[in-house]
Amino acid sequence: MPERVLTPAHLYRPRVHYAPAINWMNDPNGLVYAAGQYQMSYQYNPYGDTHGHMHWGRATSPDLVHWTEQEIALWQGDHEIFSGSAFIDHANTSGFGKSGETVLVACYTGHTPYNQSQFLAYSLDGGEQWHPQPEAVLDVGRQDFRDPRVFWHSPSSQWIMAVVHPYEHQIELYGSPNLRDWQSLSLFGPAGATGGIWEVPELFPVEDEQGQTWWVLKVDLNPGGPFGGSGVQYWLGDFDGRCFDARTPARWVDHGKDFYAALTWSDLPEPSRRVWLAWMNNWQYAQAVPTPGQRGMMSLARELRVARWGEAFCLAQSPIPELQKLRGKEEEIRRPGFVVLNPACAAELKLTFTSTMSGALRLTFHSDEGPEGTVVLNSQMLRVIRPTTAPTTDLAGYAGEHSAELPPGPEVLDLHLFLDACSLEVFASEGRVVISDLLYPNAPIRKLEVDFEDADILQAQLWTLTPSGPTGRLA
Ligand code: FRU
Repeated sequence: MPERVLTPAHLYRPRVHYAPAINWMNDPNGLVYAAGQYQMSYQYNPYGDTHGHMHWGRATSPDLVHWTEQEIALWQGDHEIFSGSAFIDHANTSGFGKSGETVLVACYTGHTPYNQSQFLAYSLDGGEQWHPQPEAVLDVGRQDFRDPRVFWHSPSSQWIMAVVHPYEHQIELYGSPNLRDWQSLSLFGPAGATGGIWEVPELFPVEDEQGQTWWVLKVDLNPGGPFGGSGVQYWLGDFDGRCFDARTPARWVDHGKDFYAALTWSDLPEPSRRVWLAWMNNWQYAQAVPTPGQRGMMSLARELRVARWGEAFCLAQSPIPELQKLRGKEEEIRRPGFVVLNPACAAELKLTFTSTMSGALRLTFHSDEGPEGTVVLNSQMLRVIRPTTAPTTDLAGYAGEHSAELPPGPEVLDLHLFLDACSLEVFASEGRVVISDLLYPNAPIRKLEVDFEDADILQAQLWTLTPSGPTGRLA
């Protein structure tokens, strides 16, 4: 009898994460809530499974969980369509609106081998059809100058654009009354990690638990990330309509290897809510991951807040509550041992425990071929270990251990984890520490081994997660 082999398309196709049906995807772009839907564009190559010929692909969702792939939003013309943002021009400052329709505007980088400049496109039908404008609105004659993040800043009554000079490790802020005329306001950087080029800046306000507003400045880095390849850093601080003033040192947003180019949604119905997602990949190996035909997936959407870290503050991320809709069968875990997982579904695990200084919780994911990945949590550290086995033996930078220190103090440790067909997202300390990693098992993961030494589980719940609608269109 011939050996039965699962093709990567079946083995690794995400069950609850967004991935386009075929071909290459990288950064999320143009995230905006409009026409009653969450809109998501992304860097997309409709001609192949590696980076090139950048277009903006597009998907929509009623709930940030179930995504439907749509037609391409922005096509490559005499330049490629690199990363950028989208937002509603409520007051029609751009003049693109004709007769009172909602004016959706996208601002993105037009890329040629010689120049990167910022362009606009608009849509008057909720993102179905986009009208790219032929002339750049910001061209400073640079080869590398990209990834505009534009938002309306009410206190200074102007549009703000954060845009990056990758090799100078600088984010330049511009202001504009009408999205067409831009004036430089300030430069931030070099600062923090500068071991690679800077990409995809993001600047947005978030509240802490006392209701105080902080501004977050985020920038991606490639290479120079915490465990090799790309990474993402942020500062908390103030923004006065001209300058961002950092009040914390730079910190990593994610301590795994696969969370890049995160972008937040514009114009969410709840104005104080901040939600982002990222490309779950790393430029070190993104073009060689073992899913030929389709490469690139998004992380789950996460809600942001500023939380205490001892005496200091940090950015914390939690999976959005809407994900609870995916929960199917629930199981309580009471003692160490093996729990059966259904590889046709994703899995969510939520767990709290107390432990001594030397105690630890160890979770190991097994396929029929053996252990495929491990998560360890003790009172000081969170660790994720990716083994050195096929099919990723030759994927440079894949195998290894990714770890992060936890904040000091709490008696009760918490862990919230999502496992999908080729990914693991682990949130500890109520989202203060996150590790997001791709995980390519040799065969479907069928068992979770739960092991705890000198630790008492207080509560542990495991859910199978099944989408009740499309999360991408399968070819
Ligand atoms: C980040 C990035 C951006 C650029 C886009 C090109 O991953 O390199 O800086 O706009 O991807 O696809």
